[in-house]
Amino acid sequence: MATPSRSGVFSAAADRRVERFTESISFDDRLYEHDVRGSIAHAQMLAETGLLTAAERDQIVATLEQIRGEIAAGQMEFRQELEDIHMHIEQALIERLGDVGRKLHTARSRNDQVATDFRLWVRDAIDHIDRRVVELQRAFVGRCQRDAAAILPAYTHLQRAQPVLAPHYWLAYCEKLERDRGRLADCRRRANVSSLGVAAVAGTSLPIDREDTARRLGFDGVAANSLDVSSDRDFVLEFAFALTLIGEHLSTWAEEWILWSTVEFNFLRLPQEFCTGSSIMPQKINPDVLELVRGKTARVIGSLQTLLVLVKGLPLAYNRDLQEDKPPLFNAFDTVDACLELAAPLVAGAELNLPAIEERLERGHLDATTLMEYLIRRGLPQRTAHHAVGALVGEALQRRVTLSELPLESFQKVDPRLNDEVYQVLGVKNAIQAFASYGSTAPAEVARQVARWQEKLANAGERG
Ligand code: ARG
Repeated sequence: MATPSRSGVFSAAADRRVERFTESISFDDRLYEHDVRGSIAHAQMLAETGLLTAAERDQIVATLEQIRGEIAAGQMEFRQELEDIHMHIEQALIERLGDVGRKLHTARSRNDQVATDFRLWVRDAIDHIDRRVVELQRAFVGRCQRDAAAILPAYTHLQRAQPVLAPHYWLAYCEKLERDRGRLADCRRRANVSSLGVAAVAGTSLPIDREDTARRLGFDGVAANSLDVSSDRDFVLEFAFALTLIGEHLSTWAEEWILWSTVEFNFLRLPQEFCTGSSIMPQKINPDVLELVRGKTARVIGSLQTLLVLVKGLPLAYNRDLQEDKPPLFNAFDTVDACLELAAPLVAGAELNLPAIEERLERGHLDATTLMEYLIRRGLPQRTAHHAVGALVGEALQRRVTLSELPLESFQKVDPRLNDEVYQVLGVKNAIQAFASYGSTAPAEVARQVARWQEKLANAGERG
């Protein structure tokens, strides 16, 4: 059979090796659903403007739906010589409808077709990832009640810094994920523009209605420049970047929880269903899922890199290079999707090891900064207070005690007016109570933020 894209200008068939090299059906079959949707909208528009009769349109629409069902059921046999999913569907239509099928591609090129299909796919993929991100936020917020009173060290430079409530940690991840949702929404806005009807590169002399197809496909608008939109893959790169940052956030979380589940930290017990064993060391319960969340993020970063290099320096407009945009984006999507799918139950199922955490909470002088701030409130200049508390920490280290175990005389050396009241900010539990600023770990502030998140998530995820 002659390849449909080879017009009468050819007198030789394509070399088999060329067909194998240039095909994309091995990966773009994923677009079949979106391709059928786009073709149905196109056929309906062609009937509106008189390029198809109503009867032809009905035949085409019914047959496309039939073909979609067959592909969904795995009944279509893919052939290399038909190159891509667009040709497979069109060819199946022509085999069934003859000349009526041959009319579907009127005022359309695969260049606008593939861009349209991919935009529709990206739109669905964004909505899917967004739902998964919300599930993960729900898992974090779900822990906040359970861990409401738990105190953890906050680290800078991975050294103990200040005490924070456990929900403050959980909401930190919710905030990062919320920015990811913002990026997804932003990317969705720019992806959701119709390229259909720009045909190959310059538009068409045939009477078409681009607004009509855009409306039918749920696009928010119609791209204004045919040269631009037939070459535009910004939406692919933007989505890849949004996925990459989600991957980075998951990787940070995974790394933190891998550390926390070590004997050295002993903060966290991971649910056993999400751990694996060792084939030689019988005692091992390994956090492989978290390690692979961290590890698989490399692929996502790699996919973004691939896409950036792919489009760099391409002249306008469509170039076949653009066919290579799909494998990296599919890979990034599948990877982040799989990571998010496991992250939510893992977050929900882990347990803080409170006795082990509390036992060591007074180590590392987590209350030192609060003491310094107390001295500032009593009138000491910050630099003076900073230096004095440093000296008190030095004394405590020497005596092998906590700041709260130092005698009052030690504090009075700093300022003779100090009295027993100073002990009210010492010790981790007291220090937590002393926080006051917006966005801090102050208990009232954290409670307010938890309530805000609970309310927000009760109404989230209803983007259509
Ligand atoms: N398989 C191609 C792709 O995915 C379809 C577009 C081909 N267009 C062309 N002018 N050869 O990009």
